[in-house]
Amino acid sequence: MTDTARALFIPVILGTVRRGRMSQPVARLMVSELSRRPGIETELIDVARIPLRIDDAGEAIKDPTFSAQMSRADALVVVSPEYNHGYSGLLKHALDTCLKEYVHKAVGVVGVSAGPFGGTRGIQDLLPVLRELGLVAIFWDVNFSTVQSVFDATGALSDQAYLPRIDKFLKELVWMARTLRHGRENIALE
Ligand SMILES: Cc1cc2nc3c(=O)[nH]c(=O)nc-3n(C[C@H](O)[C@H](O)[C@H](O)COP(=O)(O)O)c2cc1C
Repeated sequence: MTDTARALFIPVILGTVRRGRMSQPVARLMVSELSRRPGIETELIDVARIPLRIDDAGEAIKDPTFSAQMSRADALVVVSPEYNHGYSGLLKHALDTCLKEYVHKAVGVVGVSAGPFGGTRGIQDLLPVLRELGLVAIFWDVNFSTVQSVFDATGALSDQAYLPRIDKFLKELVWMARTLRHGRENIALE
């Protein structure tokens, strides 16, 4: 039996430091939609606020707070803007600082782009990276296309069509998070 009484911790990683980033209202929306669900704890992790050196890389520059958040997490939502058909370099720089913290945990990716493809090209490139980190990617993404017209001036969602897509994505992510937590805690790797 899976343990539904204990809350799942599912933080949202805001994957860019760009000034004026539209990924920020997207990440806030994901936090808000996660918070409304019973049995879920969440928080926004802004890569701009993780104190990381850029003269080194990997676990050598691990930030203790980010490491503890990743250790505690049962699943991650990664908000990933598309930059030149790829993902954000500083998102990868932050993800690369942890390893064992991620193993056998679920991840779902939310792509963000100014163009019409909702960050899909960046997501396709990010998936093998997430797999190498030990994360287990779900088979739904959320794609924010032409994101500059999805939120109003206050940062509130204006296109309500995103809500059922987010609901489907989060249902799958929560299922995978519960299933993997059960596996981590009850099933030995032989
Ligand atoms: C360096 C750079 C490259 C970009 N490349 C693309 C791209 O390949 N395709 C696209 O649709 N938008 C591209 N954009 C626009 C971003 O997708 C846009 O800024 C979007 O709002 C998501 O990123 P943000 O959180 O930085 O706002 C690019 C933006 C930057 C800064």
